[in-house]
Amino acid sequence: MEPAAKSAGVCPAKVSEILAKYSRRPDALVSILHDVQKEAGYLSEEAITEIASGLDIPVSKVYGVATFYTLFSTKPKGQYIIRVCENAPCHVLGAKAIVEALEKELGIPMGGTTSDGKFTLEYTSCLGVCGVAPAIMINEAVYGNLTPERVPLILKEYK
Ligand code: FES
Repeated sequence: MEPAAKSAGVCPAKVSEILAKYSRRPDALVSILHDVQKEAGYLSEEAITEIASGLDIPVSKVYGVATFYTLFSTKPKGQYIIRVCENAPCHVLGAKAIVEALEKELGIPMGGTTSDGKFTLEYTSCLGVCGVAPAIMINEAVYGNLTPERVPLILKEYK
């Protein structure tokens, strides 16, 4: 199993505070999950159990919502999230070679997180910069017109 940067998750007191902010309303579940993830980086099993008990709804329901939306993660993620666009324009212009270069450079498969908890590699849909495809995003920064050769140089900025 991979150790990760934010494996400690979020403390129960913080979850309680977030639940109180939404008056423990089950219909605010998505907003609650959003806030808890913002705090902890991901939705741990403990946090999911805590939310279910706080809202008095089944754990399976909270888990179902947490795994349905791609913006939620039930696994710890790295400090830097590298999102690779997988839509057609980027795909046609070589996104696959970019993914291979990233996987090689980071030593992890797509979807993985490096053992130092620094990088997570994942796919995303169109980043809105199709004119400079293939493109990736590292946290908030967008990189376009990518080539496999540029990948190590870009990653160097984050190491
Ligand atoms: Fe990749 Fe739009 S298709 S940025």
